[in-house]
Amino acid sequence: MKAKELLPFISELDTYKKYGRVKRVVGLMIESQGPESSIGDVCHIHVGVKSKKKIIRAEVVGFKEENIILMPYTELNEIAPGCLVEATMRPLEFKIGSAMIGSVIDPLGLPLDGSGLPKGLATVGTERVPPNPMERPPINESIEVGVRLIDSLLTVGKGQRVGIFAGSGVGKSTLLGMIARNTTADINVIGLIGERGREVREFIERDLGPEGLSRSIVVVATSDSPALMRIKGAYTATAIAEYFRDKGLNVMLMMDSVTRVAMAQREIGLAVGEPPTTKGYTPSVFATLPKLLERTGTNQLGTITAFYTVLVDGDDMNEPIADTVRGILDGHFVLDRSLANKGQYPAVNVLKSISRLMNQIVDEEHVKCAEKFREMLAKYIENEDLINIGAYKRGSSKEIDEAIRKYPEIISFLKQAVDEPVSKQDSVNRLISLIGSV
Ligand SMILES: Nc1ncnc2c1ncn2[C@@H]1O[C@H](COP(=O)(O)OP(=O)(O)O)[C@@H](O)[C@H]1O
Ligand SMILES: [Mg+2]
Repeated sequence: MKAKELLPFISELDTYKKYGRVKRVVGLMIESQGPESSIGDVCHIHVGVKSKKKIIRAEVVGFKEENIILMPYTELNEIAPGCLVEATMRPLEFKIGSAMIGSVIDPLGLPLDGSGLPKGLATVGTERVPPNPMERPPINESIEVGVRLIDSLLTVGKGQRVGIFAGSGVGKSTLLGMIARNTTADINVIGLIGERGREVREFIERDLGPEGLSRSIVVVATSDSPALMRIKGAYTATAIAEYFRDKGLNVMLMMDSVTRVAMAQREIGLAVGEPPTTKGYTPSVFATLPKLLERTGTNQLGTITAFYTVLVDGDDMNEPIADTVRGILDGHFVLDRSLANKGQYPAVNVLKSISRLMNQIVDEEHVKCAEKFREMLAKYIENEDLINIGAYKRGSSKEIDEAIRKYPEIISFLKQAVDEPVSKQDSVNRLISLIGSV
C-alpha cells in the first residue's frame, strides 16, 4: 500500500483524533490544535515535566478557525505551548449518592475539607435537558418551609420555583438557612455561587448550622474561582437535586445567587467574543438561564422545589436578570431594605411578593384569609403617614379603623425569630384566627 493511501486510515486512528497541542493562551482561553471535540466536552491538558506531570481539566467553549478553544476549571499556570491536550469525548461528570448528604463540595463534586469520596456513588453528568413539559405532573400539593409568612401568605407547592429578590445584607442567607432547617422536604441541595469565602463559612456555620447541614448537600463556588467553575456550581447543584428527585424524593434546591451565575456566563461569553447586550450581558446568558431554571420543578418520579436568589441593586426590579428570572419562575418574594432597617425580619414585603400557585394548592378559607390579610396590611400602609402624624380621625373609615386595630397583631404575625421553628399548620391556624376575629 502506498503512503498516500494510508492517510485516510491514519486520520481515523484513535490516537490521532484523541490528542491535540496547545497553540496559545489568551486571557482565560486556551487555543489548541485538535483534538476532535464538541462544545461542552472535557479535555485533559497534560502539563509539567517528567516527575511533576499533572493533568489540568478544561472544557471546550468554542472554536476558532481550525482550533478549539478551551477554558480550564482551575488555574491556568503551568500551561505552555505544545502541551498535550487529550479528548475525553464526554461532558463533565461527578459522583453523587446518599452518602454525600451532610457534605460541602466543590462544583466537581469533591469535598472541600479534602476528605475522600465514600464508596458506592453513582456517576452523573452536570448537564441534562429539562423534563418534557407535557409529562410534568401538575403541582397540587403544598410544601412546608417553616417560615410563617411564607407558609400562610405565600404558600409554596412541591415542585414550585420561586425567585427571592433582594439587595445585599437584607437577609437572604438567613432566610435560606431558616428554610433549610425547618422545611419538611426530604433533602436540601444548596448552591452557593460567587459568594466570598467568609460569607460561605458564615452561612454554613451560622445560618445552616449542624442540624441544617445534616440534611443538606452544599455546593460551593466562591467569587475567586474561575468563571467556568461558578457556572458548573449551579449545574452540579441542579444535577444533584435531579439525582435525588429521580429517587422519588421531594428535594429543596436553593441557589444563592442566580445573578452571580449570570455574571459568570457573561464573563465567558465576552471572552469567546459574544457581543454584549443589555448591561453587558451576552446573548448566551439569556439562553442558558431558562435552560438551567427549567430543570427543576416536578417530573414523574419526584419534585424539586427551588428558591433562586436574585440580586437587585437599589431595588431595581427591572434589571435584565431580575426581569428574565421573574418571567421564568412561578413566583417572586421581594426582600425589602426598609423592613430590614426597621428590624422587621424576615424582611419579605408581602404586598410586593406573589406565589403564583398558591390558590391552586390551598383551600378556599385559607385563600380568603390571606387575601383579607393583604387588604388590611395594604390599607394600613396606604394611610400610614396620616396615621403617624395623627391626621387620621378614627371613625372616618371602617376599614382603616380595623387595619389600625389589627396592625400590631399583623406585624407580630409577620415577624419570626431566626431560631423559631413554626409548623405550617400552626401558621395557617394563626392566620385564620387573626382574620376570623375581625
Ligand atoms: N431573620 C432575621 N432576624 C434577625 N436579624 C436578621 C434576620 N435576617 C437577617 N438579619 C440580619 O441581617 C444581616 C444580614 O443578613 P444576611 O442573611 O447575611 O443577608 P444577605 O444574605 O442578604 O446578604 C444579618 O447579619 C443579621 O444581622
Ligand atoms: Mg448572603
